[in-house]
Amino acid sequence: MTIAGARPNFMKVASISEAVKSHNNSGVDPYIEHILVHTGQHYDEKMSQCFFKELGIPVPDINLEVGSGSHALQTAEIMKRFEPVLLDEQPDVLIVVGDVNSTVACTLVASKIIYPHTGAGNGRVRPVIVHVEAGLRSFDRDMPEEINRILTDALSDILFLTEEDAVKNLRSEGVASEKMVMVGNVMIDTLLRHLSMAKKSDVRNRFKIPSSYSLVTMHRPSNVDTRDALTPLIECLVEISKSIPLVFPVHPRTRNALEHFELLAALEQNSKIQLLDPLPYLDFLNLIASATMVLTDSGGIQEETTALQVPCITMRENTERPVTVALGTNYLTGTDPAKILSTARKILAGQGKKGEIPPYWDGKAGERIVKALIERLVAS
Ligand code: UD1
Repeated sequence: MTIAGARPNFMKVASISEAVKSHNNSGVDPYIEHILVHTGQHYDEKMSQCFFKELGIPVPDINLEVGSGSHALQTAEIMKRFEPVLLDEQPDVLIVVGDVNSTVACTLVASKIIYPHTGAGNGRVRPVIVHVEAGLRSFDRDMPEEINRILTDALSDILFLTEEDAVKNLRSEGVASEKMVMVGNVMIDTLLRHLSMAKKSDVRNRFKIPSSYSLVTMHRPSNVDTRDALTPLIECLVEISKSIPLVFPVHPRTRNALEHFELLAALEQNSKIQLLDPLPYLDFLNLIASATMVLTDSGGIQEETTALQVPCITMRENTERPVTVALGTNYLTGTDPAKILSTARKILAGQGKKGEIPPYWDGKAGERIVKALIERLVAS
């Protein structure tokens, strides 16, 4: 059973689901019955359904339809609705991905469940919990995702890793090496699988996007939820837009904040900054691949720009994905407008990093996950 909840989960689940399908098609034993649960943490067509359609992810077998809420409300609601599903289905393995509230909520339920003795579950009293994208740490406990990462890793039985720093992080938390398997990056599997299709998207014609532009995304609560944080970042974007037009697909959280702090109207009137609704996967991938530079506070986009060797400015004080800075094209500038601006100028002057692709980011992480699970669980 695999859990998907929020937008960045869908690209990761697509790779796992594809790898399970191709294992089953190969005819090699065992046949894997794969149940997909959508928690409904993200629910808008543009934040959820469109990804399933484009990425060919099967329609979820179960949708918990939890919707939005405070962290406590959302997490509790997922837990409440997930427990009966787990008791009913009794999967042998529960796969959770990434670091969103759905990830930790389902992990917590699974770690305490006791299956009734109905003969299902292969005699296990609870599922083997598998965390994909384990071991990442920003060392910033004010970030909700950091709490989700620490708890999910602590409760998981098998930890699939995307980069070497994760090994160091988990070891320092006392995690046994036997639990860790370096498999690479499932989000990059999906990127590589869809890149040629994405390049054919007509998104730039459709939105009349100029040939040279920078792409912006921003949705971290620490950047958008207060006026004091959001205003200087928006002023900084306005400054950068004087050198290069900006394309900015706006996350619902950010749109709400811009409206609330009365920053939206001025942005809408700025001819150098093009605000769009959240975009489907292929359109967005097309825009990253063709951008001169990307400015973001996302986790996944730091990885996608590194994989595509497009310079990226991460407007955060820390990153849980340091390989994108050490090897890739990412610059961690913090949120100081002067630093963001000077880095942008350097990149626009053609002095941006070219970067290298991190080890194992080769499109085969999903395949390695399925292989490792069969080796570990079927033989045992
Ligand atoms: C969540 C994840 C974050 C991830 C991000 C990607 C957690 C703690 N955070 O943050 O790690 O980077 O998803 O988007 O799990 N909303 C809609 N429609 C939707 C979904 C959300 O309008 O389909 C609006 C609601 O007003 C909601 C707000 O966006 O309250 C925030 O959504 P939520 O899922 O709570 O957090 P994200 O900021 O999306």
